Amino acid sequence: MQIGQALFNAPDLLGGQAARAAVSCASCHSNGRRNPAFFLAGISAVPGSADVSSSFFSLARGNGRFDPKPIPDLALPGKVSRDPASRALEGFTRGLIVEEFSGREPSAAQLADLASYIRAIRACPDRLTEPRTLASDLALLRTTIAGATVLLERGDIGGAQILVQSARFRLGLIDERLVGPKDKRLHSALLDASRQLAAAPLQRDLLASWLLRFERTIAPRLARSERQSLYDPATLDRWLAARR
Ligand code: HEC
Repeated sequence: MQIGQALFNAPDLLGGQAARAAVSCASCHSNGRRNPAFFLAGISAVPGSADVSSSFFSLARGNGRFDPKPIPDLALPGKVSRDPASRALEGFTRGLIVEEFSGREPSAAQLADLASYIRAIRACPDRLTEPRTLASDLALLRTTIAGATVLLERGDIGGAQILVQSARFRLGLIDERLVGPKDKRLHSALLDASRQLAAAPLQRDLLASWLLRFERTIAPRLARSERQSLYDPATLDRWLAARR
């Protein structure tokens, strides 16, 4: 299920325009639910909608019509059966990746991982929104590296590459949130870490030592900068107000 979550958050699972625009499944279905703020010009009519048969994403399914639909909440029963026996979810997901978003053919194991993640998504009645925190981004980074390691064990090099790229994307998102005046060296440390990840040959022990170094040298500095970063709601409010 963790591999499924990692793939769900990886832009390179989708090909073409979506990957270039850093759009992953999670961009529209945040935390597997629905992103009411998703808006991409030419794809959305109103925030929270998307035309997934648009030729912007794919030539295979592009129907030449602009017909955005509300993004569904994947925790709720929908038109695609979640019954594992029918494997409808696996088939639908494959169609999305390959035809809708022009992505590379996913392996059967990747589809099974994605489907088990989607089947496990549940509504939390007591929590309507989930704040994006440094802790949640770091947890996703760890899940992504762990997922890449498991895919390498399976001999799925393509899948591991998708997740390593996704880990670099996550580092970029973390970096964007650091707006403190004293964060200059932390920015370069994150950039170095991202470059090391790109340069290292895809091997389990190298991924493990990369993560160990990250946890020892960068994670504690991120924690110290969190109060001055856009992860901090008060800092975010001030930052937004200064730009209005
Ligand atoms: C650009 C936004 C966008 C992205 C990216 C996206 N989806 Fe969706 N998704 C939608 C919309 C809109 C629908 C509803 C389509 C419809 O009603 O015809 C949908 C429908 C679905 C459904 C069917 C839900 C039901 O009704 O049972 C599933 C499952 C799903 N998406 C999973 C995924 C997965 C997995 C990915 C990544 C491979 C993904 N989506 C990427 C917007 C998106």
